[in-house]
Amino acid sequence: MSAPSQQGPRAATRAIHGDDHLNETTDVAPALHVSTTYRYTNIPENLKTAAEYGNLALPEEHIYSRFSIANTTRLEATLTSLLSGPAITYASGLASFHALMTYFNPRRIAISGAYHGVHDNVTLFQRITGLEKCSFDDIETKLGKGDIVHLETPLNPTGEAYEIKVLADRAHKVGALLVVDSTFAPPPLQEPFRWGADVVMHSGTKYIGGHSDMLCGVLVLNPESKFVKNAGRVGDEQPLSAKETAGNLRFERGIIGGVMGNLEGWLGLRSVRTMGLRLERASKNAAELVRFLVELLEGEGEEARQVQKVLRKVTHASLQREEWLKEQMPAGFGPVFSIYTKTENQARRLPSKVKYFHHATSLGGVESLIEWRAMSDEHVDTTLLRISTGIEDVEDLKEDLKQGLLALAAEQKEVVV
Ligand SMILES: Cc1ncc(COP(=O)(O)O)c(C=O)c1O
Repeated sequence: MSAPSQQGPRAATRAIHGDDHLNETTDVAPALHVSTTYRYTNIPENLKTAAEYGNLALPEEHIYSRFSIANTTRLEATLTSLLSGPAITYASGLASFHALMTYFNPRRIAISGAYHGVHDNVTLFQRITGLEKCSFDDIETKLGKGDIVHLETPLNPTGEAYEIKVLADRAHKVGALLVVDSTFAPPPLQEPFRWGADVVMHSGTKYIGGHSDMLCGVLVLNPESKFVKNAGRVGDEQPLSAKETAGNLRFERGIIGGVMGNLEGWLGLRSVRTMGLRLERASKNAAELVRFLVELLEGEGEEARQVQKVLRKVTHASLQREEWLKEQMPAGFGPVFSIYTKTENQARRLPSKVKYFHHATSLGGVESLIEWRAMSDEHVDTTLLRISTGIEDVEDLKEDLKQGLLALAAEQKEVVV
C-alpha cells in the first residue's frame, strides 16, 4: 500500500477521483463528448477578445478542440494528480517528445539507449535546428546550460533499469535538464521526480491506455524544477515554474495541433482508473516468467536441456542486483523483458509456437505480446524477442512459453551451439 501523498489521498484513490472537480454532470461514468467546437457565452458583457484570453489553451473553458476538450482535460487532471506534476497529453508518445524538443530547443542532447523512434525524432531536429547528439559519456565535456539529457528507464526493449539519480546529478551539474522516458514503469512502479528528473515523458499508448486501443503521449513537469523556454538558445531568460511552463506547452500544442482525439481522451480516462492494478499484476507476472525462464536456462533436467537448445539469454530489471534499484522500483520491475534465442531463425519462429502471446509490436495492454524485434527495429540483435506481459494467469503463460520453446527445440535436427 502506498503512503498518503502530501495532497491527501493515496494513488489508487487519486486515479479514480483526481478529476471529480471537473465532473459537472450526474453521470458516474464519464460522458463521451465529441464536439470540436463549443458555444460561447450568451452574455455579451462576458465575451472576451483573443487578446484578453491571452492563452486560448487554458483548460477551464473549452473553445475549440485543438486547444482543449472535456475528456482529455479530465484525463490530464487525473494524470496531474497521479504523476505528481502538471501533465499535458499529446497525440502520441513521439508527439510529446517532439513538443518537448520544440519548446526547449536545446543545442545538444545526450541520449544513449532509447526507443528507436525517439532517436529518429532527434535526427529530425538535427536537420531542422542543428541539434548536436551526444552520448551519456559526453555530458561533462559537451553539455551546458539549457541542454537535455534523455534517459529511458526501464529501457526498450531489454527491460533493464538505469539509475535516475546519477543522471539527474550529472545533468544538473552542467545546467542541463533531465528528461526521463518512464513509459515502461508509470506509478506505482517508478516516480522519477523523487530522484531528480525535471520532465517525465510517457507513451500513454502503453500502460495509461492499457488496452491496445489508443495512442497517447504525456509530458509531466517536476513542480520543484524551473524551466527556461528555448533554453539552449537564449541568454538569461527568466526561469518559469512548472505550472507556467505547462501553460506554455499547452499553448504550443494548440499551434502544432498534436492533440489526442475526443475518443482517445475518453478511453484514456476510463483506462487510467485501473492502471495501478494492471501494472502490479503484469509486473508480477513478468518477474515470475523471468524467474521461470532463468531456472530453465540454468537447470539440469531433460526439459531444461531441451529449452537450452533454443534459449540463450533473458534480460529484465528483476535480474539486476544493484541496491539503488530496490528504492527506484519498489513495487515491481516492469512488465516488459527480452529473451535471446541461439539463432535468428529460432527468434523468427518462436512467436508461431505460442498461443497466449500475440505476435505484435507495442506493449502495455492487458494481453501478452511477443515480438521478433528485428521486424520493427533495424538496430537490434536479430535473435531478440521482446515480451510484454499481460494480466493473464501466469501459470498459463509459463506453460505456453515452455511448450513453445520445447516445440522449437524438437524441430532442431541437431543441437545448435
Ligand atoms: C519507451 C518508448 N517511448 C516512446 C514511444 C513512442 O510512443 P508512441 O508509439 O505512443 O508514439 C514508445 C513506443 O513504443 C516507447 O516504447
